[in-house]
Amino acid sequence: MNILILTGAGISAESGIPTFRDANGLWEGHHVEEVATPQGFERNPSLVHRFYNERRRALLSPEIQPNAAHIALAEFEKRHAKSSRGDFLIVTQNIDDLHVRAGSRNVLPMHGELLKVRCVHSHKTFDWNEDLDLTTPHPEHPDDESRRGCLRPHVVWFGELPIGLEQIGEAAAKADVFIAIGTSGLVYPAAGIVQQTQPTCRKIEINLGDTPASNAFNECRHGKAGEQVPRLLAELE
Ligand code: NAD
Ligand code: APR
Repeated sequence: MNILILTGAGISAESGIPTFRDANGLWEGHHVEEVATPQGFERNPSLVHRFYNERRRALLSPEIQPNAAHIALAEFEKRHAKSSRGDFLIVTQNIDDLHVRAGSRNVLPMHGELLKVRCVHSHKTFDWNEDLDLTTPHPEHPDDESRRGCLRPHVVWFGELPIGLEQIGEAAAKADVFIAIGTSGLVYPAAGIVQQTQPTCRKIEINLGDTPASNAFNECRHGKAGEQVPRLLAELE
């Protein structure tokens, strides 16, 4: 049985990370075009750095930990691999690292990773858990003044190409079960992955309520991911 999971901000809500579009979501307090577009970064890189520095610091604070949904997915994957009964892939729109911290192995972060930065010239990525600003030295050329400030967060902004679309398309086409967890179904191409599955694929949505994508699923389970995900995975076993 090939299983494809798509996660969004909702799966990390119970870990204390704010979602984007819910009440008190990140996009209520910030203008998307200013902090999450290449044009915004060109206009005011310091503002964009401050936005992601805040989020990186929050992610690294000891209170933020994987919750029951992340852990259930990681445990399920281990048992699935042992029984070698097919593929298991988590495609996440989240830039936090909570799936990996919970122990998941096959994770594709399609919108990038907050704990990585990228050189705007070479596109090389580096693990990162510090603040970033316009004077940050290049990790490979720390003494080269001309290379200061050429790092950007390794996150996918609006208008940029998400990571791994080809692999995601292939996984969707052969999935027997597709589960979308905690995503508003508003941002493409992630919201369109459900359409790339076969008609025979069992499609389940877990969310607090219905989303614009709900019609494309066979089943919608309403409730918190921390409760619904362990329950559903136990049923699948
Ligand atoms: P998008 O969804 O149109 O495209 C995302 C990126 O992926 C683009 O670079 C596009 O070229 C690429 N892409 C799309 N499909 C592809 C495919 N099949 N193969 C290869 N590449 C593909 O644009 P977006 O800017 O990411 O916006 C996503 C949605 O979010 C839009 O509906 C937009 O209206 C909405 N949006 C919401 C807010 C907000 O919440 N305030 C802000 C900006 C955008
Ligand atoms: N359990 C399950 N679902 C939840 C929970 C919870 N505890 N809390 C919130 N949700 C649901 C909400 O009902 C909402 O539908 O999670 C969804 C979160 O939606 P968004 O905030 O829009 O997050 P997401 O879908 O991940 O956003 C997609 O938009 O701005 C971009 O790049 C950013 O990756 C992000 C993308």
